[in-house]
Amino acid sequence: MRVVVLGAAGQLGRELVRVLPSAETIPLARADLDVGDTRAVAARLDALRPDVVVNAVADNRVDVAEQDPAAATAINATAVGAIARACAAANAFLVHVSTDYVFDGRAHRPYAEADAPAPLGAYARSKLEGERLARLAPRHAIVRVAGLYARGGSRGKGGSFVDRVLARARAGEVLRVVDDQVTAPTWARDVAGTLAALLPRWAAGTAPGGIFHLTNAGACSWYAFARAVLQEAGVAATVEPITSAALAAPAPRPAYSVLADTRLAALGIPPLRSWDAALRAYLAAPD
Ligand SMILES: NC(=O)c1ccc[n+]([C@@H]2O[C@H](COP(=O)([O-])OP(=O)(O)OC[C@H]3O[C@@H](n4cnc5c(N)ncnc54)[C@H](OP(=O)(O)O)[C@@H]3O)[C@@H](O)[C@H]2O)c1
Repeated sequence: MRVVVLGAAGQLGRELVRVLPSAETIPLARADLDVGDTRAVAARLDALRPDVVVNAVADNRVDVAEQDPAAATAINATAVGAIARACAAANAFLVHVSTDYVFDGRAHRPYAEADAPAPLGAYARSKLEGERLARLAPRHAIVRVAGLYARGGSRGKGGSFVDRVLARARAGEVLRVVDDQVTAPTWARDVAGTLAALLPRWAAGTAPGGIFHLTNAGACSWYAFARAVLQEAGVAATVEPITSAALAAPAPRPAYSVLADTRLAALGIPPLRSWDAALRAYLAAPD
């Protein structure tokens, strides 16, 4: 099974490349293929003839997208259309990664795969449009994740949320963290592990495609998560809960974006462990 991983240098991409069999995995980072170049996407996927393409690329600059929605749309939507068309031409299975932000967060129970999206901001709209375009690949899965963290974080962010909390605490800063956004913080390694189990079945056509929700189980606010990080790591610091209104970020964010996985059990795949167990494992992991 030849698997192309797009966005291979990102948080999820790195974890996927780590877990997939190296002899059959083709990791492509931005320097190898700029997915904004739709002709290059078509040519490269045509040449590689993969069985599966995982698109872990995103323009995740949620706040920047409010000022520059075209940049987000180019990568999170238009490029996905090009990837999906190339997958269709190569008869490859497309696994496209999406987000909890497609929901507006007004629910009081976890969102199921079948719930209607209602994106709040420009980034979220671009990701929902990406989901629509991913369906141009006749064989596809749309995998929504949330609150991802991984060692090293995303480029330019100074480490993952967990590592930034620890760094600031150790520097003696008082931390102010939003307490009115509830999600499921998720270790990208856990998503990668479950995807590794699903990919061969998707490639072989023995598991159904469509939308999947993949997050660590349970939910908490970012404030509660920051406190858990400090407690688990044994680092003392003052953490103050603040509201999203006080933070005044340019992009609106869902107040409650917990995703319910209602499909894995039918495939005999266990749910991801709880967010606090995953956090402990992340903190204990040597790399
Ligand atoms: N992070 C979260 O909390 C979160 C939450 C919900 C959903 N998601 C979704 O999960 C997926 C993976 O997120 P992540 O946290 O792993 O993101 P990430 O760390 O930002 O990785 C995304 C990767 O995409 C690459 N990329 C951006 N523009 C590109 C282009 N034009 N051509 C090729 N590559 C390009 C980036 O390269 P550079 O490093 O060079 O910029 C980066 O390596 C995305 O679909 C995201 O929307 C993430």
